[in-house]
Amino acid sequence: MLGDLQIAFIGGGTMGEIIISRLLSTKTVQKPDLIIVSNPLSARCLYLEKEYGVRTTTCNIEAVLGTSIVILAVKPQVLVVVMAMLRGKIPLDALVISIVAGASISSLSQGLNHSAIVRTMPNLAVQVGHGTTVWSASPSVTEIQRSHTQVILQALGKEIATQNEYDLDMATGLSSAGTGFVFLFIEAMIDAGVQIGLTRTQAQELTLHTIAGSVELMFETHEHPAVLRNKVTSPGGATAAGLYELEKGSMRTVISNAVLAALSRTQQLGSIEMKK
Ligand SMILES: NC(=O)c1ccc[n+]([C@@H]2O[C@H](COP(=O)([O-])OP(=O)(O)OC[C@H]3O[C@@H](n4cnc5c(N)ncnc54)[C@H](OP(=O)(O)O)[C@@H]3O)[C@@H](O)[C@H]2O)c1
Repeated sequence: MLGDLQIAFIGGGTMGEIIISRLLSTKTVQKPDLIIVSNPLSARCLYLEKEYGVRTTTCNIEAVLGTSIVILAVKPQVLVVVMAMLRGKIPLDALVISIVAGASISSLSQGLNHSAIVRTMPNLAVQVGHGTTVWSASPSVTEIQRSHTQVILQALGKEIATQNEYDLDMATGLSSAGTGFVFLFIEAMIDAGVQIGLTRTQAQELTLHTIAGSVELMFETHEHPAVLRNKVTSPGGATAAGLYELEKGSMRTVISNAVLAALSRTQQLGSIEMKK
């Protein structure tokens, strides 16, 4: 589907490497030399060359020469400098896909002086192909470029397109920061299992299977979580006793506040970085 299109990565850190690895392992990109990665450290370039067979450079401008797709995978803190460097250097018919948290389509378009921009928000589960990536495209992105975006993001898991850019900030709060919240919940469940006498290995195995099984059940039955919760809550039983404690500890409010805080911090960081 991507054929012989060249893809340039600006930034070959954690996320850059994960995307490269998924594109190659899923054969979304057939030949590694169709990928060129730009990263400031030569040692990192060497590692990426050896591990994946991709081409590398320490020069961002060289990376985007003649490319069809540019993937911006740098930290928000260096984005303004990177955009200044690339301004006017990206081929006019190329598509820019950004994974930079908080960077809006208009700031990317102005900073790069480029019109075809896709802004995405992936989460960490892209590493295992079960990520969720919400994305939004500028009006100049063509139908073919939209389908190229889908093909790339499908190599990472589920992709969800939206016309409302605000959805991306909300996705940062829910599905991107949310992976961190889920890991904290998992950690707390394991610790609780150890506290009641299970070994750490037993507690981890039981916790992970409980969560994975519950998620699978929801996917299969499409039932509301409250319906499934009621099915395991017998009157005066163990689950009811535990649920009472969770409600008393304001679990719903705490989770809601965590998502709201992540959304508000995303917007704050986006506006700070863009003003620099
Ligand atoms: N990690 C996540 O779960 C996640 C999820 C969604 C979105 N994101 C977004 O993904 C982006 C990348 O995150 P990351 O975790 O991959 O960060 P990272 O590991 O720090 O990778 C960024 C890479 O960019 C390189 N770089 C720095 N300055 C550069 C420049 N001027 N030109 C080209 N490359 C440069 C860095 O090299 P040095 O290390 O040598 O400085 C590093 O290899 C961020 O904007 C983040 O918001 C991350």
